[in-house]
Amino acid sequence: MNIKSFVLLSALLLAACGDKTGEPQKKNARHYDEKTLSMGDRVFHTHCAECHGYNGEGKPGWEQPGPDGKLLPPPLDNNGRSWRLSGMQIQQFILHGSPDGRGNMPAWKGKLTEQEIAAVSAWITSLWSDQVYLDWQTKAEHSTQ
Ligand code: HEC
Repeated sequence: MNIKSFVLLSALLLAACGDKTGEPQKKNARHYDEKTLSMGDRVFHTHCAECHGYNGEGKPGWEQPGPDGKLLPPPLDNNGRSWRLSGMQIQQFILHGSPDGRGNMPAWKGKLTEQEIAAVSAWITSLWSDQVYLDWQTKAEHSTQ
C-alpha cells in the first residue's frame, strides 16, 4: 500500500468511527419499522392532529390551562414532556385519556386497536431528536413496547 492510499484509508476509518468533536454518540436504532410508522402517521393525522397540531407541536400557550381551566393539548415533540413517560405509559394515556377530566384528551379504548395505539405511540417517539430518544430508551424502567 502506498502512502496516499494509507492516508485515505485512515481517513475513511476515522470517519466510520464517528466524529471526534465530543458530540454525544448517536445511535439510530429506533424500535419501530417503516410500516408501524406509516400506520402511526395515519392514525395521528386522522384523530390527533386537530388538537396536538399537524406536527405534534401542541396548542400555543399549552403550559397554562385554557379559559375553562382545563389543560390544553401539549406538544408531543421534544418541546413537550411526553418523553418523560415510558412507552407503556404513553399507550395507557392514549387508551384512557386525560385522568379525572383535567383536560379534554379523549380515551381511545374501543375506538383504536391495540396495534394502532402502539403505532401512534411509536410515531410520537419518532418526533424526538436522537439524543432525547436515546435518553428515553436507556432509562431502565422504560419499556418501548
Ligand atoms: C380533543 C383534543 C385532543 C385529541 C383529539 C387528542 N388529544 Fe392527546 N391530549 C389532549 C390534552 C388536552 C392533553 C393533556 C391532558 C392531560 O395531561 O391530562 C393530551 C395529552 C396527550 C398525551 C400525554 C402527553 C404528555 O406530555 O403528558 C399523549 C401521549 C397524547 N395526548 C396523545 C394523543 C394521541 C395519540 C391522540 C390521537 C389518537 C390524541 N392525543 C388526541 C387533547 C387531545
